[in-house]
Amino acid sequence: MTTGRTAGSRQTADLTPDRKTDRKTEEKPLRRAVCPGSFDPITNGHLDIVARASKLYDVVHVAVMINKSKRGLFTIEERIALIEECTAEYGNVTVESFHGLLVDYCKQRDIPAIVKGLRAVSDFDYEQQMAQMNNGLSGVETLFIPTNPVYSFLSSSLVREVAAWGGDVSHLVPEPVHRALAGKLRPQEGSGN
Ligand code: PNS
Repeated sequence: MTTGRTAGSRQTADLTPDRKTDRKTEEKPLRRAVCPGSFDPITNGHLDIVARASKLYDVVHVAVMINKSKRGLFTIEERIALIEECTAEYGNVTVESFHGLLVDYCKQRDIPAIVKGLRAVSDFDYEQQMAQMNNGLSGVETLFIPTNPVYSFLSSSLVREVAAWGGDVSHLVPEPVHRALAGKLRPQEGSGN
């Protein structure tokens, strides 16, 4: 199942998966990559990776992978809307959700590469396992981009926790996310907290 839109209406015709050629050079296939994740919510660390991937590839698909066993803070639709708002300026980023295996998402869209950020050595073990599993399943490659050190400690779960306790996360998330967090976590009137 997929939902979502292409960021920026001008690109819609160019970015559909079955249009595999560039308008200027009809023979040249578009180079596609996917940045997958839960994005609950997207942080400045995620955004930095998407921005860097968008310079390396013709089209970057941001895939909000649905995990039905995890109840998120933001709905899938809210996550997509926030990512679209934060990535609109790049012009070659599309955002959608997917329920299923990442390799199937890639296969259906002719995407040969997964791009992930690596924050620290502690990320590496699990990321390597997933990369090897995905490659073994379908041949898709995973490329790791070292996270900007400024964001090496940053995760969506820490952002949610710090924000829930009233901590300042304005330097860790894009402005639209900061506003959305404030709206979600505003203390309810009469709750006594
Ligand atoms: O932001 P996250 O939660 O660290 O992202 C993890 C994610 C969504 C990329 C990973 O769990 C994933 O790819 N899920 C899709 C289901 C899948 O393909 N599982 C097999 C992984 S080898």
